[in-house]
Formats: sequence, C-alpha cells, structure tokens
Amino acid sequence: MKRIAVITSGGDAPGMNAAVRAVVREAIYSGLEVLGVQRGYKGLLENQLIRLSLRSVSGIINRGGTILKTGRCPEMKTAAGLKKAVKNLKNNGIEGLVGIGGDGSLKAAMAISNHGIPAVSIPASIDNDVYGTDETIGFDTAMDTAVEAIDKIRDTAASHERIFIVEVMGREHGFLALSIGLASGAEFILIPEVKYNTEKICAQLKRDYHKGKTSVIIVFAEGVGNPYELAEKINKRIGIDVRVSSLGYIQRGGTPQARSRILACMYGAHAVKLLLKKKTNRLVVLKDGKVTDIPFSMVLNNEKKINMSLYKLAMELSI
Ligand code: F6P
Repeated sequence: MKRIAVITSGGDAPGMNAAVRAVVREAIYSGLEVLGVQRGYKGLLENQLIRLSLRSVSGIINRGGTILKTGRCPEMKTAAGLKKAVKNLKNNGIEGLVGIGGDGSLKAAMAISNHGIPAVSIPASIDNDVYGTDETIGFDTAMDTAVEAIDKIRDTAASHERIFIVEVMGREHGFLALSIGLASGAEFILIPEVKYNTEKICAQLKRDYHKGKTSVIIVFAEGVGNPYELAEKINKRIGIDVRVSSLGYIQRGGTPQARSRILACMYGAHAVKLLLKKKTNRLVVLKDGKVTDIPFSMVLNNEKKINMSLYKLAMELSI
C-alpha cells in the first residue's frame, strides 16, 4: 500500500481536525502518501482531492470543524454515485480510505470497501449514537459546551424563579441530552428513548416550588419533539413562567477539549494501522477504555442502547 485518502463527512464534530491530523501524520510516518477529500462525499464525486503533507495538518489539533470541509451526500446511496466515487479513488491511485464521521460516513465507507477499496471508519459525531463504541469524537466537547451554557441559564432562571426548557442536539437519540442533563444537574431530562407524561412533570414542578426550588432546568433532546409546545402546556397548567432556550449549533463548534483530541489521535493512528494490516470494513471503537475495532456489519445490525442506570441516577439526584 502506497497511498490512502482521508475524508470527513456528515455533521462536523470538534476533534475531527485532530483525527485528520493523526491519520496524515501516522500515514506519512508509516511511509504512505495521503490525499484529503474535500467537502465530504460530494467532493469525492467531483474528484476534489488534495495532497496532504505533514505541514498541511500543522496547527489544527485545537481547531473545531474540519479543514477538509464536510457535508451530506444522498447521491452516495445511488449505484451511479458509488461507482463514480470508487472510480475517482482508483484514478487517484488510492488503495485505502479512512472515513471520519457518524453512521452515514460508516455506510459510505462500507459501500466503497465492498467495491474493492479497503476502507475503515473513525466514529466522529456529537451525538455519540454509533453502536459499538463508548464514545465518538466530539461528544465530550459538545457536552461541555452545552453544560457551560446551561450553567449560565441557571443563573437567570434562579434570579427570575423561572422554568427553562433547554433544547439540545442528538438527532433522534438521547445520549447527548442524558449526559448534559446529569452534568448540569437538570431537574428533568427528556429523551426520545423514555416516554414522558406532562401531568407528572407539572405535579413534580408544583412540589419542587413548594419545596423551595427557585429554578428548574428541563433538558429536552431535539428528537423528543417541540419544546415550545411543552412550555405552553406547563405554563397553562401551573401558571409558572416557562422559557425555552435552544442551544443549536454552538454544540457543534468550538475548540475540542483535550479528551476529544486524545480520542482523535488514538482513533486516527489505529485506523491507519488497520489499513496497513489490510484489515477493511472495520470501525475504530473505544471499548472499556481501550481502542480497538469491530466489523461494520456488527455496527449496522445493532442499535446503541441508552444507559438507563445513568438516566435513573440523574432522576434520583434531581429530587
Ligand atoms: O449529527 C449531528 C447533528 O448535529 C445532530 O445532533 C443534529 O440533529 C444534526 O446534526 C443537524 O444536522 P445539520 O447540520 O444537517 O442541520
């Protein structure tokens, strides 16, 4: 193997740059050439590949986002798109591909691998919803960003004795919301995996206020629904001022925390070593504190489950 390519795709995540850097440095250290695919799989279909040197990835370990740019590319799910992607990789002499991203990135890498170009994936997403790994790159940084914002919201909630519903990301899963809720001491954590009852929430809020609670934070995962509808229902039922704050895209940006960077370094180097050992169709994962890898098929045939003991702990500690 002489030349590999690295691509970032799907939603960006803080730490993606650190992973690109690790792939490039480990590959060149191992005697390989590296091309970077620009703008995700859309860029691959448009043959947008650039040579990456040791210096190309200087000064990026601490930068959010991805210097390669990223995007979502529905065309990759078509036979014609896939054929074009494989052709462009082959025309550039690429003998191995490292994909950095979430579930979508993994599926694209698997499709490419099944068409003759060895491919491995590095899990990078703020959602932490990729089966098989304890942690995806960017999850901890997004969590820190959201917790810092909620600590600020808590100040104004306490000053005005208000209830705040804080909407966080996570697509249709509650992994990010659950961790944010526990870390920020939220009184309620609403996630898609656990049905909630508005009446019970209102009864609890009344008890909280009688117990002397001066502020309430409800962490609301975006996959649950519309936070403004819940705010209206609560306000109507108990007459307490309810505000909604949707954190949005700040959760995707910012300088990656040290943990995200360390995960990225370990994942990136492991991915290159897999290709050098001609192992393909593998996802790099963190399992019980160790970096290892599992087959794509295992990831795609399973869905990651929420940690219900963590959910129960969060509810117990918020009484
Ligand atoms: O997958 C990461 C994520 O930030 C999700 O949490 C969120 O729902 C989605 O991306 C937003 O997608 P887009 O960036 O395409 O708006």
